[in-house]
Amino acid sequence: LLSIADLSPSEFTKLVLNASSHKKAVKDAFAAGQVPPKPLHGAMTGKTVAMMFSKRSTRTRVSTEAAVQLMGGHPMFLGKDDIQLGVNESLYDTSVVISSMTSCMVARVGPHSDVANLAAHSSVPVINALSSDFHPLQTIADFQTIHETFGRTPTDSSLGLEGLKVAWVGDSNNVLFDLAIGCVKMGVDIAVASPTGYGIPAEMKKIILAAAEGVAKPGKLTETTVPEEAIKDANILVTDTWVSMGQEVEAQKRLKAFAGYQITNELAKKGGAKPDWKFMHCLPRHPEEVDDEVFYGDRSLVFPEAENRLWAAVSALEAFVVNKGKIF
Ligand code: CP
Ligand code: NVA
Repeated sequence: LLSIADLSPSEFTKLVLNASSHKKAVKDAFAAGQVPPKPLHGAMTGKTVAMMFSKRSTRTRVSTEAAVQLMGGHPMFLGKDDIQLGVNESLYDTSVVISSMTSCMVARVGPHSDVANLAAHSSVPVINALSSDFHPLQTIADFQTIHETFGRTPTDSSLGLEGLKVAWVGDSNNVLFDLAIGCVKMGVDIAVASPTGYGIPAEMKKIILAAAEGVAKPGKLTETTVPEEAIKDANILVTDTWVSMGQEVEAQKRLKAFAGYQITNELAKKGGAKPDWKFMHCLPRHPEEVDDEVFYGDRSLVFPEAENRLWAAVSALEAFVVNKGKIF
């Protein structure tokens, strides 16, 4: 699982719905003092998941470790100072060796080509835990959150969210790209407002638009430099940091370029968001991209969204490791 682009609409729908139903079943079982219900309990007994992280992480690390543990497996965290991930050893050698000893690799890397390289040479499933281009586990959790909030009736190949509109205001980055692919596949319109020079690169736009293939009513992607234009009639306002990991040297330049893009209640009102609009953010959050009033306010879904990272990890590991890529 390198990107949501790898999934058909029905596979993506099932991953999201499974995440949501496992959440309910496990929480009910835990509340009753029981172990996780079948099919999760013991599903990963004897299996080790290598978690290779070349960048820091709170949610992805904790959710993956907790998900593996919940299914009885062993999560093995390997930070950038622990193993030779592309440093002092080729990715080919690393991938062949680690996949010969484990049941899955979950990798957080810099360039997307690194995780693609690991996957190309691995004998076990590889899950992208964030690369320069994509963040599929985040997108599964985000759609789970939208599904649980908007309460529409899903079908076999869609979550029933057609007609909703997402407004992304801020940097065009890895989190946006998979979110946009998910939107196109699920019939959710997505409008992106980024400053000039920080829009979606042409190659990535092609990948996002290609997600419409075979989808009866794909979501529309639109781009602007004006936040209010993107926000018009949006049901969900989303943003992420203006300075992603690895871009720290550009921080001052970026903070200047993104002035005026902070999500606030005033901006949402000025832009004409839907009266019951919601706010989402993958976290970690910085106050420059969204103020406290929105981030901690009634419209904010950020903490359920973060919790859903656990259920997205359970769903993805079940599909790719336990069920060997069969998503049902
Ligand atoms: N949203 C997310 O991936 O957070 P972490 O970087 O803390 O894992
Ligand atoms: N865009 C951010 C996401 C972190 C989860 C980054 O790449 O740092």
